[in-house]
Amino acid sequence: MDYSLLWLDWKKRDDLPPWTGRIVGDPVSLQGKAAMRELREGFRELGAADTAGRPCLRLEETSGDGENFCLRREGESLILSGPGRGLLYGVFALLRQLALGEEILPGTSAPAWPIRMLDHWDNADGSIERGYAGASFFFSEGKPVCNARTRDYARLLASVGLNGCCVNNVNVKGEALELLTGKYDRELREIGETLGEYGVSLWICVSFAAPMEQGGLPTADPLDPKVRRWWQETCGRLFRAVPGLAGFLVKADSEGRPGPQTYGRSQAEGANMLAEAVRPYGGGILWRCFVYNCTQDWRDQKTDRARAQYDTFAPLDGQFGENVYLQIKNGPVDFQIREPVSPLLVRLERTKSIVEFQLAQEYTGQQRHVCYLAPMMKEVLDFAGPGGKVKDRISAVCAVSNTGADFNWTGHDLAAANFYAFGRLAWDLDSDPTVLAREWTRLTFGDDPKAVETVTDILLRSREVYERYTVPLGIGWMCVPGTHYGPSPEGYEYDRWGTYHRATHREIGVERGPSGTGYSEQYGPELGRMYGEIGTCPEELLLFFHRLPYNYRMKDGRTLLQRIYDDHFEGCAAAEAMAEAWDALEGLVPEAVFRRVQERFREQVRSAREWRDVINSWLYRLTLIPDERGRSIWL
Ligand code: GCU
Repeated sequence: MDYSLLWLDWKKRDDLPPWTGRIVGDPVSLQGKAAMRELREGFRELGAADTAGRPCLRLEETSGDGENFCLRREGESLILSGPGRGLLYGVFALLRQLALGEEILPGTSAPAWPIRMLDHWDNADGSIERGYAGASFFFSEGKPVCNARTRDYARLLASVGLNGCCVNNVNVKGEALELLTGKYDRELREIGETLGEYGVSLWICVSFAAPMEQGGLPTADPLDPKVRRWWQETCGRLFRAVPGLAGFLVKADSEGRPGPQTYGRSQAEGANMLAEAVRPYGGGILWRCFVYNCTQDWRDQKTDRARAQYDTFAPLDGQFGENVYLQIKNGPVDFQIREPVSPLLVRLERTKSIVEFQLAQEYTGQQRHVCYLAPMMKEVLDFAGPGGKVKDRISAVCAVSNTGADFNWTGHDLAAANFYAFGRLAWDLDSDPTVLAREWTRLTFGDDPKAVETVTDILLRSREVYERYTVPLGIGWMCVPGTHYGPSPEGYEYDRWGTYHRATHREIGVERGPSGTGYSEQYGPELGRMYGEIGTCPEELLLFFHRLPYNYRMKDGRTLLQRIYDDHFEGCAAAEAMAEAWDALEGLVPEAVFRRVQERFREQVRSAREWRDVINSWLYRLTLIPDERGRSIWL
C-alpha cells in the first residue's frame, strides 16, 4: 500500500473485555454493513480472541438515517444500537476506546452538528491549491479518480465522525468546470457511492458563471429566467446521475471569482437562485462569505478588509433560503495564526451558517512547521458574542483539508493530529484539545510513555511557538506574497490585498477601534468596548485592533518593541527545543516516521531563525531601538 492508515492502524492489546470474543448482528444498510466489516477487521487487529460462547457484542440496527448511537449492557454483553450511520460511528468509537484501553460506558452519543465536512482545494489537473502533502487523490490529469485510497479516506473521515467532503477547489477552473456538465457523472457517482458507504456526502464546488462558461448563455444574472432554468435543468440531470451529491460550495464575488455583484444583485439573490435549483433533490448551498475588495489601493486608509464580510452579509440576515449555509472563515481576514473570531459568526439570527477552519496550514507553517490547531478551533467554537456562543449559533462546521497523496496523507506526520482533532471536535464540541492530542498520539505511535508525553507536549505548545517567532500580537501577514511561506515584513504593504500594518519608525498596526476603522464595533457594545479600548484589548490581539507606538508598555512592563523582539528570540529557541525533544525519540517511534519528522523539524528551525532575524532586523532598522538584552540583531 502506498499510504499509511494513520490512526486506523489498530495495535494489538491484551486487555480486551470478554464481549470482544463474539460479534452478533446483521445490519442491512450499506453503512451498517460497513460498520460490521470495520468491527470484524478491527477486532482481529486488536487481537480479540474468537470465543464461540457468551458474552458478545451485538449490533442492533434501528430504522432511520440518523447518526446517533447507543451503548448498553446486557449481563456481560454489550449492545450497540443505532441506524446504519450511527452504528458506523459507534463502531469506530468502540474501536478507538478499546485501542486506548478506556473503559466503555453505556450511554448515547450524537454529533454536535448535522454537517461536518472537509473541503478540498484540489484542482482537476491533480495539483492542490495551498496543498502541502503531495498531489490530489481525488483528481489526476483532468479527471476525478476513485480507488482504494478514496475508500480509506472515507473510513478515516467516518472514524472521527466527519460526514461530508467537498472534492474540488473553490476556485473552479479547467476540467473541474465540467463536473456540472455530465462529462464526469460516472466518476462522480463512483466517488459518491464510495464515500456514501461510510456516511460521507459528496459536495462539489461550482462556478457562478457556469451558465456562460458551460451553458453558452450571454449572462449568469441570477434573476434572468434563462439562467435559472439552466441551473434547474443542470441540477435535475446531475443530482439524478450522482445520487450521493449533497450540494454545491460556491466562492462568488471573491478574489476575482464571478458572482451576483456583476449584475447588481445581492449575495442572497445569488445564493437563493442556486438553492432553488438544488432544493428538489434535498441539496444544500454552502455560500462563502469571503467577499472583500481585493483591489484596494494601499493609500486608501478608510477601507478595512476585516470589516468586509460583516458589512456585506449582516444586513442580509434572514434573506437566505433555508437550504443555504453562509460559510464563514473563523477570523475576519484569512486564516492567520491569530485573529479575533469573525463577528459574523455571532451575528446571524435568521440565517444558517457554517464555520470554516483551515487545516491546510497556509499561514501556519505549511505542514513543514508543526502547528496543532485544535486549541484555536475550540476557542472559536467557545467564543461568546452578544447573542451567545459560536457553537450554539452555527449549524455546521467545515475545514480546508490538509491531506494529499503523500504516504502519510498530511506531509508532516504530526499534521494528521489536526485532521483527527477537527473531526472529534466536530462530533463532540466539548472535547478537550489536550485529550485529543494525547489520544491521537497514542493511536498513532502506541503507548511508550516518553513518546506520548513528548509528542503531546510538542503539539500543545506548537501554536504559541509558531506565533511568537512569526507574527505575534495579531499583527498577521508579513509573509512572502504568493507562497505565504517565510518572512517578508513589507511583502504585502504596497499591494492590493488589504493586509497592511503600516509600520513607521514610531508606530505599527491599523487602528480598528472607534477612532479608526470601527471594526471593533461589529462585536456589539460590550465586546466592542473591550476590543476597542487599548487597555482592555486582549494582548494577544493588540496589534490586530490597534496602532501603537513601539514604546507602548505591555501589562508586564516591557515595551511593545521589546515584547516583539523577545517573542522572536524565545519562540525560535522554543522551536529548537521542540526539535531536540523529537530527536530524543529515536528508537521510540517507527524509524521512517522519526526521520521524516526530524527533517521537517530541521526546516522548521531554519525557518524560525529566518523569521526571528528578518523581523527583528527590520524593526531595529526602522526604529534604531536596540534589544535591551543585547542579543544579535543584524544590520
Ligand atoms: C486564501 C488563499 C487562496 C484561497 C482563498 C480562499 O486567500 O490564499 O488560495 O483561494 O484563501 O479561501 O478562497
